[in-house]
Amino acid sequence: MTKRGISRRLITMGVFFCMTLLLPKFSESSSTSAVLYSGCTQQRYTPNSPYQSNLDSLFTSLVNSATYSSYNNFTIVGSTQQDAVFGLYQCRGDLAMPDCAACVARAVTRAGDICRGTCGGSVQLDGCFVKYDNETFLGAQDKTVVLKKCGPSVGYNPDAMGSRDALLAGLTAAGGNFRVGGSGEVRGMAQCSGDLSYGECQDCVAEAISRLKGDCGTADYGDMFLGKCYARYSTGGAHANSKAHGESNHGGIKTFAIIIGSLAGAAIVIIFLAFMTKICGRQGK
Ligand SMILES: *[C@@H]1O[C@H](CO)[C@@H](O)[C@H](O)[C@H]1NC(C)=O
Ligand SMILES: *[C@@H]1O[C@H](CO)[C@@H](O)[C@H](O)[C@H]1NC(C)=O
Repeated sequence: MTKRGISRRLITMGVFFCMTLLLPKFSESSSTSAVLYSGCTQQRYTPNSPYQSNLDSLFTSLVNSATYSSYNNFTIVGSTQQDAVFGLYQCRGDLAMPDCAACVARAVTRAGDICRGTCGGSVQLDGCFVKYDNETFLGAQDKTVVLKKCGPSVGYNPDAMGSRDALLAGLTAAGGNFRVGGSGEVRGMAQCSGDLSYGECQDCVAEAISRLKGDCGTADYGDMFLGKCYARYSTGGAHANSKAHGESNHGGIKTFAIIIGSLAGAAIVIIFLAFMTKICGRQGK
């Protein structure tokens, strides 16, 4: 093989190496992975007990199911009824299947870390929700407030308030499990856990929206997460101010920095190899 051939090969390998360094970082940057809230039960299970092995099976079932369905519930009953574990996941209605699966896998991992050793836990990421417990909660309405976040008040602006109220009215009226809408500068969405009936979902979303209006006043964004549903809105670029979204933006910037870094690395390798080729070429003459 000629020197030129070898150096071309090295260049290709260098570029490929930099590409592989940078690829896993891409998938980590997904804005669907920010943890919005988590909660764990007080009760703990015995390590290496049948309950733990049922919990492991549940986690596997949740992650596998999320590759083909945006919602599912499971009841894992081992040899004894008292070790039964119940669980569900719900992906955001606008997520593509691979993103749903990635989100649920991440939520399950986070739940395993955050709620290590506890019987039950729940984790809400930006793109999905996972909950499990040793007592069944499947199909039960739950309107407890689990996360309320209101942006800074922007003062009374009749236009903005009108748009927000129109958006919230639209989300209430839309019906169905996942609702998304916009009015003027305001964007919003609402979603129920898939185990609620149409009527229960309506009831839950109506409650979340009425709380948003009452509690967030003239805030430029609001997030209201109840046990089995949520409603959120944001005005213009207001979402960037929210902590959850701030984190994901930060992730984006970090990824961007890594890409630039990797490209710079690749460029240095290429320049170096070109330089070596030149020197080797000269010596060859
Ligand atoms: C759940 O686990 C806790 C702790 O082991 C236990 O006290 C409780 O009775 C269990 N609930 C059910 C429904 O089995
Ligand atoms: C749980 O899953 C089963 C099987 O997929 C389904 O038939 C049932 O309706 C679900 N229950 C709830 C409460 O979502």
